[in-house]
Amino acid sequence: MQSSVRWARIDTVTARVDVVMRELEERCATTVGKLRQLADAMAVEMHAGLAAEGASKLKMLISYVDNLPTGDEEGLFYALDLGGTNFRVLRVQLGGKEGRIVRQEFEEVSIPPHLMIGGSDELFDFIASALARFIASEGEDFHLPTGRQRELGFTFSFPVRQISIGSGTLVKWTKGFNIDATVGEDVVGELSRAMERQGLDMRVNDTIGTLAGGRYHDKDVVAAVILGTGTNAAYVERVEAIPKWQGLLPKSGETVINMEWGNFRSSHLPITEYDQALDDESLNPGEQIYEKLVSGMYLGEIFRRVLLRLAREAALFGETVPAKLEIPFSLRTPIMSAMHHDKSPDLTVVSTKLNEVLGISNTSLQTRKVVVQICDIIAKRSARLAAAGIVGIVKKVGRARDNAREGGSQLPRMVIAMDGGLYEHYMIFSESVQSTIKEILGEEASDSVVIKMANDGSGIGAALLAASHSHYLELEQD
Ligand code: GLC
Repeated sequence: MQSSVRWARIDTVTARVDVVMRELEERCATTVGKLRQLADAMAVEMHAGLAAEGASKLKMLISYVDNLPTGDEEGLFYALDLGGTNFRVLRVQLGGKEGRIVRQEFEEVSIPPHLMIGGSDELFDFIASALARFIASEGEDFHLPTGRQRELGFTFSFPVRQISIGSGTLVKWTKGFNIDATVGEDVVGELSRAMERQGLDMRVNDTIGTLAGGRYHDKDVVAAVILGTGTNAAYVERVEAIPKWQGLLPKSGETVINMEWGNFRSSHLPITEYDQALDDESLNPGEQIYEKLVSGMYLGEIFRRVLLRLAREAALFGETVPAKLEIPFSLRTPIMSAMHHDKSPDLTVVSTKLNEVLGISNTSLQTRKVVVQICDIIAKRSARLAAAGIVGIVKKVGRARDNAREGGSQLPRMVIAMDGGLYEHYMIFSESVQSTIKEILGEEASDSVVIKMANDGSGIGAALLAASHSHYLELEQD
């Protein structure tokens, strides 16, 4: 008697889990048809954002970076890369035509959480003082040519509306930062003032680092994509294709556009109740919708929300709902990735992580399989949406290149410089990005699209841009 009651209970649990899972799968579906529509929508929004300020959710910010590095730059350059909860300071000695990168050093500093939501001066003072310490430790291996000041490239991975290469105002914070006083301010000015308070004397460039880092090593790099805590893309655009451009044409006829694609939105995006609730409860509701579906800051949180519903409505983890599962952001994406990659027949990694992170023990193999299946649905939806975004850029850039070349020849090689921990460490995710690009474009066309990992692209790239826009190097060439 006892056992038949238990079986009956398990059956209803399984049935309810099945219902929720089927619904999740349906709502997260990304058929190739839908992805093609999304890629087209991305390309359409790119055009709109270039046409006029505010015409699209895509801000398509002009960077005024019109000289990407050529590989010939020479000298000692510094960079500061602020993009998330850590920032990096680095120095690089460039060897000119023959030498390329002769040596480099970096230091990573984590930002105390209270500074992410405190005062503007406090944040920038903290950064400038770390930079000052780093500069003070410059060894004799590094050499600053006589008569030159140290030059610094600054990568600030938040939406900035630039007015020139060396200045730009913060449009809004993203990725868990929220400091009202900085919004609308010139972030380069904020940094410069903080550096002055530290007694530092350096020229500051603002940058689109990953693209520059990629181009330094490979001339066919046309765009850069970040898939990390946040997500974004930048690419090289012809100035004549930017109706909203004002002012003089740069010599190169090109400029780098910071798309801020995290804010992309389209009715074709598969948005579930979990995404909706995550957005409603976020620091920036209604904004960065694509980022909230795709990037590393949010995947673990979506996963947690699905598990929580299953725990509440289908008793996935037994009679009581595990307390830790109720805490927002208690499941980080690296944990999700570890569970997703569990190859052991009994899913022991899943079982260990559930126990360590959420205090859930004694799960059945069937339950652990459901957990992995959820990871799979969420990570692949994210990867496939990222792939559609990349195809959107490829279409926009490829069409322009297509028009420029003689008919009939092969599609040109287009390299996407990639950076970000999500792509680098979550293998199922990155494999899915690649295979989905092929699926959308078809085997033949996709051969010309190459994704290249640009490790620490944004940091090094900032130093390289400080070099390619160096006042001193320009003077020396004249
Ligand atoms: C967020 C920021 C964007 C940045 C991206 C990747 O989307 O708004 O500026 O490039 O994260 O770090």
